[in-house]
Amino acid sequence: MTRPEIPGYALGSPTLQRSPVSTADLALLQQTLLFGADDVRALKQSRPILEGQVEAILDVWYGFVGGNPHLLAAFVSKKTGEPEGQYLERVRKRFGQWILDTANAQFDQNWLDWQHEIGLRHHRTKKNKTDSATAADIVPFRYVVALTVPVTTTLKPFLGKSGAAAADVERMHAAWVKAVLLQTILWSRPYVASADF
Ligand code: HEM
Repeated sequence: MTRPEIPGYALGSPTLQRSPVSTADLALLQQTLLFGADDVRALKQSRPILEGQVEAILDVWYGFVGGNPHLLAAFVSKKTGEPEGQYLERVRKRFGQWILDTANAQFDQNWLDWQHEIGLRHHRTKKNKTDSATAADIVPFRYVVALTVPVTTTLKPFLGKSGAAAADVERMHAAWVKAVLLQTILWSRPYVASADF
């Protein structure tokens, strides 16, 4: 699926490269993360809660990246030395859709292929290409995995704003931690020698 209102978004697009990670590999990875049917339910429960809060969540996440020069560097133009506004804006739209896609919890082949593409877009293979940006050539591997913590920690209050029971908020939060870690691991694939992944 492409969405004209979100340039560069490509979940479900037939043009995506097939992920080198198979659905069987994915199942073992989920098993290793203790990610199960309860987590799928909890992610789906979070969908309507987060839907109306996407922009507010993005404000917090972008605030974190913007407040850390070593992270903002990924968006800074090599030509001007300034953050590239259009790049930030376009990525932000896809990031918003990613929140909803993660909450949809449809971990099928299309989703795997899209994860591979997102990994390539953080890696030098495809970084900058989607938006014709002129920023750093790569998002350093270490920060991709590390950002799991701020992303999921700052999400928790938004999960709590729905009036959901405290135990449900805990369940949704735990499912989100696993789902984001799962994705940053999948995105690591281009950074790691194939035989070692
Ligand atoms: C939990 C970790 C992270 C999550 C959930 C995340 C999420 C995303 C998403 C959803 C996109 C859009 C993908 C697309 O639709 O094209 C994206 C792209 C991007 N992210 Fe991340 N990201 C993470 C880590 C990082 C870190 C640490 C940085 C460094 C500051 C970063 C910088 C970028 C950049 C520069 C792009 C645009 C890449 C391109 O040129 O296509 N990300 N990220």
